[in-house]
Amino acid sequence: MKGIVLAGGAGTRLYPMTSVTSKQLLPVYDKPLVFYPLSVLMLAGIRDILIISTPQDIHNFEQLFDDGSRYGINLSYAVQPEPNGLAQAFVVGESFIDGQSCALILGDNIFYGNGLTRHLEHCASKTEGATLFAYYVEDPERFGVVEVDEKGRAVSLEEKPVHPRSNYCVTGLYFYDERVSEFARRVVPSARGEYEITDLNKLYLEDGCLDVITLGRGYTWLDAGTITSLYQAGEFVRVLQEHQGLIIAALEEVAYYNKWIDREQLRQAALAYGKSEYGAHLMKVAESRIVR
Ligand code: G1P
Repeated sequence: MKGIVLAGGAGTRLYPMTSVTSKQLLPVYDKPLVFYPLSVLMLAGIRDILIISTPQDIHNFEQLFDDGSRYGINLSYAVQPEPNGLAQAFVVGESFIDGQSCALILGDNIFYGNGLTRHLEHCASKTEGATLFAYYVEDPERFGVVEVDEKGRAVSLEEKPVHPRSNYCVTGLYFYDERVSEFARRVVPSARGEYEITDLNKLYLEDGCLDVITLGRGYTWLDAGTITSLYQAGEFVRVLQEHQGLIIAALEEVAYYNKWIDREQLRQAALAYGKSEYGAHLMKVAESRIVR
């Protein structure tokens, strides 16, 4: 399975912070926002990952991550010339996907919770259909909204509805089978002129093969696309990390526990981070004899 991190968009809601940089490179407490979604794909066991960004920002991602070998993954980069909608990721990334199944995660989405890895591994092993993750919110009109029946099956999907049919928003993590680029090509621009991910998901719904996993109260999902949510995300990460002595989305740590890099590579990575707390944490993991 392949994976895409979509880190595009003009980030206008975060001006002037995003006047010269990408939203997904802004800090969420101690690391760039994009670390969080990238760690989710890695937790799903996905190693071939494409990062899509704007023509002006893509080079910063390349500088930050290089070819991904530090994290035991293979990273490629592509440009979405205009912010024309999320479904375009599968057209921009068609040659990268190369007829395989593919997951997509939005570069400003943060997921956290016990049991998440199990869900992710299950989705990554599925060969047919699509899977979405739904999350209860108080302001569903800001998101894609899914209505589910009593058996948990999707009944309807709407993008930013004025009168939402449910409080379950569709989070920015999607798993698709190998038909995804073909389906994405069938999507036509919406009233606001975008190739909507919701319209792509509707094609899977009509095809009768759309699964919805509801992330319940044991999970945290944050979309860090506004000043308030970015700030809240930073606070959330700070409180958890300080309280529990763990680090969320430490990419080298995920790679180490996945056995994609060895102890010496983890030690070298830790040294490369100098005196930072992130580096100190990696060193602690590298020197620990506890095997997870
Ligand atoms: C996008 C999707 C929306 C989804 C949301 C999750 O919205 O269009 O369906 O619920 O991401 O973060 P955007 O954040 O681009 O407005």
